[in-house]
This record gives sequence, C-alpha cells and structure tokens, in this order.
Amino acid sequence: MTGGGRGIGRAIVDRLVADGTRVLTCGRGKRPDDLAAEVAWVQADVGISADAETIVKAARDVFGAPTILVNNAGIQITKTVVETTNEDWDLVVGANCRGVFNMCRAVLPFMAEHSGSIVNIGSTSGNAADPRMAIYNASKAFVHGLTRSIAVDHGPKVRCNAICPGWITTGMASDGFDLARDPVRAKADAIARHPAGRLGTPADIANAVAWLVSDQATFATGQCFVLDGGLTAASPLQPGLF
Ligand SMILES: NC(=O)c1ccc[n+]([C@@H]2O[C@H](COP(=O)([O-])OP(=O)(O)OC[C@H]3O[C@@H](n4cnc5c(N)ncnc54)[C@H](O)[C@@H]3O)[C@@H](O)[C@H]2O)c1
Repeated sequence: MTGGGRGIGRAIVDRLVADGTRVLTCGRGKRPDDLAAEVAWVQADVGISADAETIVKAARDVFGAPTILVNNAGIQITKTVVETTNEDWDLVVGANCRGVFNMCRAVLPFMAEHSGSIVNIGSTSGNAADPRMAIYNASKAFVHGLTRSIAVDHGPKVRCNAICPGWITTGMASDGFDLARDPVRAKADAIARHPAGRLGTPADIANAVAWLVSDQATFATGQCFVLDGGLTAASPLQPGLF
C-alpha cells in the first residue's frame, strides 16, 4: 500500500487494518506519528525502482508473499504542457506512472506464486481532461491502461483494477477552494454539480478498495471504476436548452 501517510491513502490503511489485513505502507518522508502502531512503514520513493524492490522485500520479510497491492501514491500539478518543466515531468511521471509500474513489477512474481489483487488509484482526470492539468491527466490515463494490461497478462491468479475518484475532500481539494475569489460559493457550486449531493471522502475510496481486495470481488478484474458521486455522469449541455 503506497502513500498511506495521509489523505486517501491513510483512509485505505485504516480500513484495511480494521478489516484485519496486515499492512505495510510507505512515503517519501518519515513515519507519521499518528500511524497505527501495527502498520509497518518504509521511507521510500516509489518512482525509484530500487525503492520499490525494497518496499516489496520489506513486506515479504514482515508478512510473507504479499497478496494485496494498493498503488495510491500520486502527485498533482496544475500546469499546461507549455508550462511543465522537466522537473515537473520527473515528479509527476515518477510518482504516478513509474511508481505504479515499479511496484507492480516488483510484486507480481510473488503474487503469481499464490494469488493477488492489485488496486491502482487512477482518477476521473484520466478519462476527461481537467483544465491545466496536462501531465496529471495523462499520467492517470497511463494508470488505467496499465491496469487493463496487468489484468489481461496476469489473470487468473492476479486481479487488477483501478478506482477513479472524482472530487475527494483531502488537503488538495480544500487548498483549491481557498484559492477561489469566494471559497464558500466555490464549494457550494462544486457540491451542486454532484448528483450525490456532496463531495467524496477518503472513506468512500477506502470502502471500494476494501471490496475490490475481498473475496466478494473475485469476478472484478481489468476495470476502472469511477467513484465520483455522479459528477461525470452529467451531459455538458446546460439545463433548459431543450
Ligand atoms: N484528492 C482527490 O480529489 C483525488 C481525486 C482523484 C484521484 N486522486 C488520487 O488519489 C491518490 C491520493 O491522493 P490524495 O488526495 O490523498 O493526495 P495526498 O497528497 O494527500 O497524498 C498522496 C500521498 O502519496 C505520497 N507520495 C507522493 N509521491 C510519492 C512517491 N514518489 N513515493 C512515495 N510516496 C509518494 C505522499 O507522500 C502522500 O502521502 C493520488 O494518486 C491522487 O492522484 C485524488
């Protein structure tokens, strides 16, 4: 489980632990003080292949062959192609593409010995372009494509799915509202565009991960499940046009 120190990743860690799963997670920084004591932590950058190997080896040392991998670690930047620097590319592609690839490559040989379930955290941004998020959008489309390839190449022993969250209330979302001219109105407008009547929470994503890695989901593989409160179900046509 990558990037479990905060946000959506922390909710996934907490849910898996509550369900009785032994969890190892990682992040580029030190172990967060408030991480549950039973969760193992490795300080590592998933974009570096040797670090990904270290994470998987640490998991094998602690629990034996891993049966679940959740690729959650990711970075978003708000830039067009022209504004994107080589450093931005390395950061975003490093975490969102190379990181997911490195972790899958490191874990698959051990899952193939028994069985396994991989869940990649993609995004609705990988299906439809959010403005000024060029390489983030593209990086999440990569995650969706890799998810299907792994399911096809490594089934039936390994199932691989992606969850594509929409607007989830982590620090990322609140920071965005704070930048608006009228943050209260910006949030109300955002909520009004969700048929579910609210923004998503990290627990919404954790609930879906818990299902996908469970025995209840053995027929689910190669899919990218959108979880966005209906945000992207709406036609872009304005109400009242017809
Ligand atoms: N918040 C949203 O609205 C939203 C929507 C769609 C998809 N997502 C995706 O969900 C995932 C989690 O997002 P979040 O909102 O919780 O973000 P966040 O920034 O709160 O958490 C991301 C975590 O990933 C870790 N991380 C980043 N790069 C890493 C690397 N190279 N190596 C190891 N760890 C690394 C960070 O340290 C952090 O703990 C990301 O993949 C993000 O793209 C989020």
